[in-house]
Amino acid sequence: MAKIKTSDYTIAVSKDIASEINTFIETRRERFSRLFILVDENSLKCCYPQLVAEIPAFEDAEIIEIESGEENKNIEVCAQLWVTLDELGADRQALFVNLGGGVIGDMGGFVASTFKRGIAFINIPTTLLAQVDASVGGKVGIDLNHVKNLVGVFNNPKAVFVNPDFIATLDNRQLLSGFAEVIKHGLIADPGYWQKIKKTNTSSPESISKLIETSIRIKNKIVSEDPFEKSIRKALNFGHTVGHAIESHFLESGQPLLHGEAIAMGMVCEAWLSNKITGLPDESLREITTYISSLYPYHVIEKPAVEHITELMFHDKKNTNGKLNFSLLSEIGKCEINQTASTDLAREALNYYINTVR
Ligand SMILES: NC(=O)c1ccc[n+]([C@@H]2O[C@H](COP(=O)([O-])OP(=O)(O)OC[C@H]3O[C@@H](n4cnc5c(N)ncnc54)[C@H](O)[C@@H]3O)[C@@H](O)[C@H]2O)c1
Repeated sequence: MAKIKTSDYTIAVSKDIASEINTFIETRRERFSRLFILVDENSLKCCYPQLVAEIPAFEDAEIIEIESGEENKNIEVCAQLWVTLDELGADRQALFVNLGGGVIGDMGGFVASTFKRGIAFINIPTTLLAQVDASVGGKVGIDLNHVKNLVGVFNNPKAVFVNPDFIATLDNRQLLSGFAEVIKHGLIADPGYWQKIKKTNTSSPESISKLIETSIRIKNKIVSEDPFEKSIRKALNFGHTVGHAIESHFLESGQPLLHGEAIAMGMVCEAWLSNKITGLPDESLREITTYISSLYPYHVIEKPAVEHITELMFHDKKNTNGKLNFSLLSEIGKCEINQTASTDLAREALNYYINTVR
C-alpha cells in the first residue's frame, strides 16, 4: 500500500482500498450526515459490488447512477444531479463519492463543489486514465457547447482511493487510452521510467497496473510545484495542443477517438516539433514514433483535415496572444514549456504523422 501526499489530501494506492475508505469515513463519521455515491452503469457493475461488501457505510448510501459517456458530462446532467441531491435531502455535511472514470470524477467533483456552495467529495477512480491523470490536480468541470472542459473550477477532493485491480475489466481500447498519459509521464519527466514503460506488456492490465503508482507520483510532483498551471505544470500538456485539436476534429466528423488515442497522435506530432524547436535528437524522435505507432492504430487525416486541425489548435485554452503554445521535449525525460511554433510548422508536424506513422 502506498500513500501519496498531495498539497492537501492523500491518494491511497492499494488493492485493499476498502479498509482505507472505512478508516477515512469512521474517523470523520460525525462530520458526514449522509453518503451519496455517483456511478455509471459500468462502475456500478464492475467496482461497486466489491466495495459495498466491505464498506458498511456504503450499504446505507444513496446510489445515483448516470449513463456512461463523455456526451453526458454536461450542464443538463449536472442540473439533474443538483435536483436529485436536493430531493434526497442532501445537506452541507453530505459526502459525495465519485466512483468511476474521468467523466464521473470531473462532473461529480463539479456538482459537489457547487451544490449548496460546496460539499465534501472523495474520488475512487476506476479507469487507468482517471487513476494516473484525473486523480491529481483538482480540475473539475464539464463540457459546454461541444467544447471540452469549458466550465469548471480547481477544487480538491478530501481523499482519493486507487485500486489498480479495477482496471482489469477495461477493454483494451480504454486501457491504451489511459496508457498514453503513462507514456507522457515517462517522456516529460523520467528516462528510466520511459525504459520501463517500453518493456511493459500493454495487453496485460496486471503489467500496466504496476506503473500506476509511479505515474501518480510524477504528476503529483509537477502539480505540487505549480497547482494553478502558471509554469511547470504546463509540461503535462506535452502532446495535448495537437492532441486536443485532433480529438475535436474527429468528434466533429462523427468518428470520435478516445482521449488517449488523440493524445498519442499529438505526442508523435509534438515530438517532431521538439526535434525542430527544442533539439530533441533524431534518434529519440524515431524511438518515440516507432513505439507509439506500434501501440495505436493509424488514423487517416485527409488534406483538408490538416487545415482544420491546425485552425482548431488556435482554440486551445493554453494559447496566449494568438500564438500556438507548446510544451516540447529537449530530450527524453526533459520538457521545455512556453514554446511557440508557426502555423506552417504545426501543419508540417501533422504531415509528419501522416507520412511516417501509416
Ligand atoms: N480532471 C482531470 O485532471 C482529468 C484528467 C484526465 C482526463 N479527465 C477527463 O476524464 C474523462 C475521460 O476519462 P475516462 O477515460 O476515465 O472516461 P470515462 O469516465 O468515460 O470512462 C471510460 C469508460 O470506461 C467505463 N468504466 C469505468 N470504470 C470501468 C471499469 N473499472 N471497468 C470497465 N469499464 C469501466 C466507463 O463507464 C466508460 O464507459 C474526460 O472527460 C476527460 O476530460 C480529467
